[in-house]
Amino acid sequence: MHRFDRPADVRAWSDAARARGEVVGLVPTMGALHDGHVSLIELAGQRCDQVAVSVFVNPLQFNRPDDFDSYPRTIDDDLATCDALGVTAVYAPTPATMYPRGFQTHVEPGPLAETMEGAARPGHFRGVTTVVTKLFAAVRPDVAVFGEKDFQQLAIIRRMAEDLDLGIEIVAAATVREADGLAMSSRNTRLSPPDRVAARCVPAALGALADAAGRERNVERLLAAAREVISAEPRARLDYVSVFDPATLEPLETLETLDGPARAAIAVWLGDVRLIDNRAL
Ligand code: PAJ
Repeated sequence: MHRFDRPADVRAWSDAARARGEVVGLVPTMGALHDGHVSLIELAGQRCDQVAVSVFVNPLQFNRPDDFDSYPRTIDDDLATCDALGVTAVYAPTPATMYPRGFQTHVEPGPLAETMEGAARPGHFRGVTTVVTKLFAAVRPDVAVFGEKDFQQLAIIRRMAEDLDLGIEIVAAATVREADGLAMSSRNTRLSPPDRVAARCVPAALGALADAAGRERNVERLLAAAREVISAEPRARLDYVSVFDPATLEPLETLETLDGPARAAIAVWLGDVRLIDNRAL
């Protein structure tokens, strides 16, 4: 397995693979790899001859410095995980390589980035689209895999790949969950033991919302079902819950108007850890 930390080196590796007629896949990550990331890497392995994983905790997408500082960093474990999965290249640049002195160009997402996570975390998606563009430019993959866990991110990246004619196939991977339903996340390791138990309220709230959607079309009443679950957990504080059109991400007032299934997303604080989740209805 190769380990690269400069764009020119990973690009030379990828250009050589493509010159041999091989399909190159990229799984962008911020490291602290868990089974959710593993499923993305495996999916890339099924579709591609060469799989690159990027590991980079991107300062541009953190709106809170304490969240950036406390983000788990486990590069040695991540390298071992990638090696065991048959990954052929890990691209792990430093912040100084990614954003050298004088860096000033950004990729600005559109209205898809204004709701939910975009509203709660100003500048977050601009940081994501900028770093993902740089990762795409360094690795030049044919295929890139992203998780539905970050549904809004996936929609924004798909839009960006199309809008900017990147010629990269964006593949979506289903959310991988712990046995109790909590979506796997690198941030879960930062939960205190009681908060980890309380975090079950996050998938439970989405479950209550989805159950209500089986009986009821009025979105305000669906949201109330989710809010009730969160308010019954004293350790949890709701940031937002939304039912939206999965194509436009625009909030819905009723499920009647949509042809296909709507989607619900939620963000919840447990102590100083913010968890997000979503599911189809
Ligand atoms: P990170 O949070 O490390 O996630 C990397 C990829 O793994 C994303 O596509 C995310 O949706 C996916 N993922 C995370 N948890 C998952 C789970 N439980 N099941 C399935 N997939 C999961 O998302 C980022 O990093 C960054 O924003 C990045 C795209 C790398 C840009 O910096």
